[in-house]
Amino acid sequence: MSLEITFSKASEKKSEAAVVCFYEDIEQGKSAKALDYTLSGYVEYALGKSNKFKGKNGQSEIVMLPEDAPYDYAVLLGLGERDKTTMGDIEAAGGKLCLALEAQGIVSAEIYMDDEPESAAETAAHLALGIKMRAYRFERYKAAPDKEEDKPKRLKSVNVAISTNKETQTLYETQSCVAEGVFWARDLVNEPPNVLYPDAYARRIKEELKPLGVEVTVFDEKKMLKLGLGALMAVGQGSDQPPRMVMMRWKGASDSEGPVALVGKGVTFDTGGISLKPGANMDEMKMDMGGSAAVVGAMKALALRKAKADVIGIVGLVENMPSARAYRPGDIITAYSGKTIEVLNTDAEGRLVLADCLSYVQEQYKPRMIVDLATLTGAMLIALGHEYAGTFATHDDLWEEINAASVQTNDRVWRMPLDEVWKKDMESDVADVQNLAKSGRSAGSCTAAGFLWHFIEDETPWAHMDIAGTAWIKSDKPLTPKFGTGYGVRLLDRLIADNYEQ
Ligand code: BES
Ligand code: MN
Ligand code: ZN
Repeated sequence: MSLEITFSKASEKKSEAAVVCFYEDIEQGKSAKALDYTLSGYVEYALGKSNKFKGKNGQSEIVMLPEDAPYDYAVLLGLGERDKTTMGDIEAAGGKLCLALEAQGIVSAEIYMDDEPESAAETAAHLALGIKMRAYRFERYKAAPDKEEDKPKRLKSVNVAISTNKETQTLYETQSCVAEGVFWARDLVNEPPNVLYPDAYARRIKEELKPLGVEVTVFDEKKMLKLGLGALMAVGQGSDQPPRMVMMRWKGASDSEGPVALVGKGVTFDTGGISLKPGANMDEMKMDMGGSAAVVGAMKALALRKAKADVIGIVGLVENMPSARAYRPGDIITAYSGKTIEVLNTDAEGRLVLADCLSYVQEQYKPRMIVDLATLTGAMLIALGHEYAGTFATHDDLWEEINAASVQTNDRVWRMPLDEVWKKDMESDVADVQNLAKSGRSAGSCTAAGFLWHFIEDETPWAHMDIAGTAWIKSDKPLTPKFGTGYGVRLLDRLIADNYEQ
């Protein structure tokens, strides 16, 4: 059962818990008093019981109320410093609140917001969004416990009491469209690789996006061979599951400068191929399609909220397997652009998939800018962990736009250097380029970006986001361990909303 979030003008007092939000500077109890006189005494009581609560962002304290109180619990929630908290911070606080309520077994809550500030409606909408995002579960493959009492208690309803309830609801509904995109991306990453192989994935994209008005074209292996997508096809040739390329277009407006292009790596499982990966934790390589999930999730969000923008999505879906038919180290393949690539390691497959997707989208659509997302290198995970996605960009303007979108959405980024040195480092003695750096393992994420750069033409602004760490996290109880984060969906949506909508 999913969580229901509602907004009302006055408090309804039907919930188990009253959540009262505070900034660090606010006079304690003020936000409750503004809305509900009867509750304020209990809030003073709760504050009196707590000696640690300071209103820090995401800080919460649950206090059991006396029997005559209108709720069983009062929950104090900190929003942080009034003028310094971004909407991303507010969402983070909502996420923490969700965890705290569920840890206490609270299934229904009512939130009291201070509705004096001008940004109150926006703040409330983002707080609700943070709760919704954190209430996500992936339980498709797990039987529910037989006995009711064994079932974990989940947050079922949240009502936000705020005088600007209509305005808040409208803002929340737009944000909810984006959350739906995030949830879909998470589902796709969480699906096992035997279920989500390239053709099954392509069918899902079509089923999901076509009814929303997105044009979807699926290229099968015959079409791809005919087109000459030689790099992508080489990666897929060892698998019994043929590759697919999916083109999507959301034309919510026409753009004289050309469409925005979003490109995603969709390796549904990465064994490494003939350059086989070690066995330990290889299951994690089901998330090697996280870049493509971000792209299709963003397309869904844009379509749901009817964004006034022209956006192309393109994902290369392929399984990287060792077999008698697999491509090998030493092979020289011809990419869609006509460049030849010496394969030195079949585990550096993502860059081959992206190379063809990048060339194809440039040739066919002349996009005004391109952003690609890929779980491209283990080196990225080592450098920035699960918190930041390394972002390479040819143009400072594009980097600034991405960075600004990042701050507002909590999909964090850190700029990485694109340098000719690494472009050169990927040149081969026998072919145009090679898929391993001559210099070896150092700066592995930068040399991978250097490789991709060989496939960017002219002056097209291009950014490459290596999401090897951010696409998934190992454990974040009570969410399923090793789960997809949906990273990138919100960032892409905001990037487009703020810079490429008419
Ligand atoms: N999908 C992996 C990168 C990866 C590793 C993502 C760990 C998430 C977690 C990619 O295809 C890969 O295998 N890259 C190689 C490149 C190397 C052979 C140059 C790597 O990072 O080791
Ligand atoms: Mn690989
Ligand atoms: Zn990979």
